[in-house]
Amino acid sequence: MRDTEHNAICDALRAAYPSWSDEEVFQRARLINAALLAKIHTVEWTPALLTHPTVTAALRANWWGVFGERIRRNYGRVSSSEVLSGIPGAERDHFGVPYAITEEFVAVYRMHPLIPDDYTFYSLRDQSVLRRAELPDLLGLNGVRLIDELGAENCLYSFGISHPGALRLHNFPNHLRKFSRHDGTVVDLATVDVLRDRERGVPRYNAFRRLLHMEPAKSFEDLTDNPEWARELRDVYGDVELVDLLPGTLAEPLPPGMAFSDTAFRIFILMASRRLNSDRFFTTDFTDEVYSPVGLDWIRDNTMTTVLLRHFPGLTPALRNVENAFWPWSSVRLS
Ligand code: HEM
Repeated sequence: MRDTEHNAICDALRAAYPSWSDEEVFQRARLINAALLAKIHTVEWTPALLTHPTVTAALRANWWGVFGERIRRNYGRVSSSEVLSGIPGAERDHFGVPYAITEEFVAVYRMHPLIPDDYTFYSLRDQSVLRRAELPDLLGLNGVRLIDELGAENCLYSFGISHPGALRLHNFPNHLRKFSRHDGTVVDLATVDVLRDRERGVPRYNAFRRLLHMEPAKSFEDLTDNPEWARELRDVYGDVELVDLLPGTLAEPLPPGMAFSDTAFRIFILMASRRLNSDRFFTTDFTDEVYSPVGLDWIRDNTMTTVLLRHFPGLTPALRNVENAFWPWSSVRLS
């Protein structure tokens, strides 16, 4: 495994700081890589799922502040305020509670319908179909074999031009409804997702919304604008107060441009900021001394696209017109 992003960062650190020991290069590269990942998740992945202009602006402001990327790039942190200059480099803040990924976050992040059952792999060179596969062909060692067989660039390209599943009712991947765990136990993950929330005491959909100061659904028709789903939910639950959180969020109408529900979004956006606010490496210690100047430049200057192209330059035609690597890439036949 030579061509990892970690190793590319190590090479840059070694060239800039020849006196550093192997351990120092290794550990600082990990830190830089983790921060780049957090940045990509904040300003690229999440906005691709939530393409609402206000959300995109809010997430970009988490990283760069409302003054924006250009000011942050050219002048650094011009203000100590996280609102104006972004969270990285601001004071760490736990907001009075020790940091943890909350149970509510785990509950709304059960996004298994994103995973398709069927996959088509294309050749990056001529767009021909190399292979059709189903989810089990991609899991565990099968996935490693598939990459060896088809080549990583073709696999990445095929994922780049395909779409994830919609986070809506009746879209749970069939393969995960009879999912074989490592010990051979077969589970219905759709059931497990609901069961775990019940075991862990996660409030039902309406109670959850009340705790978020959101309006509860007054009826099944109020919960969803799909009459068929309203009928099905009534058949299953009888009382709208009993609807579990996950089916409720999958039935609720989506705000424009958003891939998941407003209910889930309220938790998501809090956690997106807090996991930065509470981590000293993204706040108080986001400094030259801790990351090195080369490290901070690396985080500032890279995106998912630059990382992909560094390791897989053959993807250039597919990524040429793509502003955000988490949006669908260009089909090479069209470009
Ligand atoms: C092929 C892809 C995937 C497989 C095979 C898979 C499988 C699983 C399994 C077996 C569990 C544990 C269930 C249990 O509690 O017994 C789980 C939990 C979970 N999965 Fe997935 N998953 C996949 C993709 C995803 C994706 C794409 C997301 C979100 C974007 C996701 C989010 C979660 C969450 C939030 C949990 C609960 C974790 C916890 O209890 O702490 N999974 N998944």
